[in-house]
Amino acid sequence: MGLLTNRKILILGVANKRSIAWATAQSCAREGAQLWLTYQGDRLKENVCELAGTIPGTETAPCEATDPASVKALFEAIQKKWGKLDGMVHAIAFAPAEDLERPYVETSREGFRIAQDVSAYTLVALAREARPLFAAAGAGAIVTFTYVASERVVPGYNVMAAAKASLETSVRYLAYDLGPAKVRVNGVSAGPVSTLAARGVSGFTKILDVVKERAPLKRNIEAGEVGDAALFFLSDLSRGVTAEILHVDAGFHATAI
Ligand SMILES: NC(=O)c1ccc[n+]([C@@H]2O[C@H](COP(=O)([O-])OP(=O)(O)OC[C@H]3O[C@@H](n4cnc5c(N)ncnc54)[C@H](O)[C@@H]3O)[C@@H](O)[C@H]2O)c1
Repeated sequence: MGLLTNRKILILGVANKRSIAWATAQSCAREGAQLWLTYQGDRLKENVCELAGTIPGTETAPCEATDPASVKALFEAIQKKWGKLDGMVHAIAFAPAEDLERPYVETSREGFRIAQDVSAYTLVALAREARPLFAAAGAGAIVTFTYVASERVVPGYNVMAAAKASLETSVRYLAYDLGPAKVRVNGVSAGPVSTLAARGVSGFTKILDVVKERAPLKRNIEAGEVGDAALFFLSDLSRGVTAEILHVDAGFHATAI
């Protein structure tokens, strides 16, 4: 028996094989979960369906997480096919490039709104829609991904750092609201991993070098290590844990200089 045998898990945010969402999918599949992957629009459909095809029985569907109709259609499809949900993985973030690039003091109102909407509010909206399906399962687990820039300044992370702070606060408030229904909500604060989203942050390569030099483990982390931490939160191994943010960053968050 695997840690997730007979569990049905929805994973939002696979773009390609480097995605943290894909690493999480592989960890979950290894432990026997049945998966449902979403893709954001036709641009990513082929990629995601090809990856899904490597894990037998995996379902796929489009989901634009900022569009209520798209989210509703996704949960209707899951209700029809599965009738329940045991876990949901939120691996979605976006901020306009120009707002990431300019100094934080020059962040545009619209850029701030978009970063918060896509990167933080979608967790709230998705958690709300998932509630009836978790109720049908009798319990549930939600996992999202954040970054240490929410706690301390990482130059270049700018508007996304504010969105991550909001995301982490949402983890705690959702955990409080959904706890009575036995739904746990947690976050993984991942060290830098070279993905499509990460490459949008200026100076990303320098960030990798700094972590390697200063982190207690003297190395960067791999996406699979983040996926395994997400697996922990989705499984019964973490049954007493909710409202938690777990750093998977080779210990970098504990360092000052
Ligand atoms: N890569 C890192 O260094 C790192 C570190 C810490 C946290 N994270 C977080 O991990 C999560 C996954 O990112 P990743 O690094 O794997 O990059 P990625 O580019 O592979 O994944 C980001 C995903 O967000 C999706 N997305 C963006 N806007 C969306 C929308 N409106 N609707 C639906 N989907 C949308 C994209 O389609 C993509 O699949 C993000 O929350 C990111 O901030 C990444």
